[in-house]
Amino acid sequence: MGKSIEEIKTQALAELETVSSIDDIKALSIRYLGRKGLVTLFLRDISKLPEKERPAAGKNTNQVKKLLKETFDRAESLITERAVSAEKGIDVSLPGRPVSAGSFHPVSLITEQISDIFSRLGFNIAEGPEVETDYYNFEALNFPKNHPARDMQDTFFVSDDIVLRTHTSPIQVRIMEKQPPPIKVIAPGRVYRCDSDLTHTPMFHQVEGLMVDEGISFGNLKGILTSFVHQMFDEKTSLRFRPSFFPFTEPSAEVDILCVICRGKGCRVCSQTGWLEVLGAGMVHPAVFENVGYDTARHTGFAFGMGVERIAMLKYGIDDLRKFFENDINFLGQF
Ligand code: PHE
Repeated sequence: MGKSIEEIKTQALAELETVSSIDDIKALSIRYLGRKGLVTLFLRDISKLPEKERPAAGKNTNQVKKLLKETFDRAESLITERAVSAEKGIDVSLPGRPVSAGSFHPVSLITEQISDIFSRLGFNIAEGPEVETDYYNFEALNFPKNHPARDMQDTFFVSDDIVLRTHTSPIQVRIMEKQPPPIKVIAPGRVYRCDSDLTHTPMFHQVEGLMVDEGISFGNLKGILTSFVHQMFDEKTSLRFRPSFFPFTEPSAEVDILCVICRGKGCRVCSQTGWLEVLGAGMVHPAVFENVGYDTARHTGFAFGMGVERIAMLKYGIDDLRKFFENDINFLGQF
């Protein structure tokens, strides 16, 4: 006889260490346990041993045979398991992938902040349709057909009579048609104008404000807007009201705030004026009240409309309006 059964076992286990595939293990199994395998042949040769040595040798050899079979089987199923995991794409030894949480869009954040401030001042929040009739977008707001004031707002027409709303002011009319005064409401939403450059995008956001009751004056408008600006920016941000024109308010004003960058000294952002225009406002025109059936002798009110992107740019120091709509994750993830 050549090698002892112990030597064969050690050799088999050492060889097992070097294999990496199911096929390798199968070959190994045949080489040791197959019909002409080393262990099988060893078992057969036991009959050639002296009679008294046979039982112990047989027992030993059968034990080795059993051990090798179990070890080969275990190695085989281990490799199979690993292959299945790899196929499913699960490598349990890899560190987990971090889940990146989304964040709010800066326009949403600022809209939220504006809404919060006005809610605390007692305003409700309303919404209206983005595809609007000529009547609500213009006519009811005292823009007669063919009036040059319509040119202020480059309009996307869906048909002769249907437009994409150019401002949130039509919501004023929809609210007043539905309920009598007192009214204290803001209306945020998307608006559309046929315009595109560094400071204009064809879609942008506004927040409309409307307050109607008995005895509402321009003083109330100034008070509410001053309180808003002080909360949105800070108490040092003063306001300036300049006479302006809107068909649906009289008197009308453009409202400027002290430049939040240079604090009035003059810089690139405020074009050296020290002031930034942030909203349009005024006392609701009696013609609008008549269109919704309000008693103009009894009720007065004010309205205002502000651009959300404009406020977001000032608040976050963003210099290009188009950044808001490019959907660049690196930009949006910063808020
Ligand atoms: N709707 C006006 C605009 O978009 C803003 C505005 C709203 C002005 C309410 C006065 C009152 O330019």
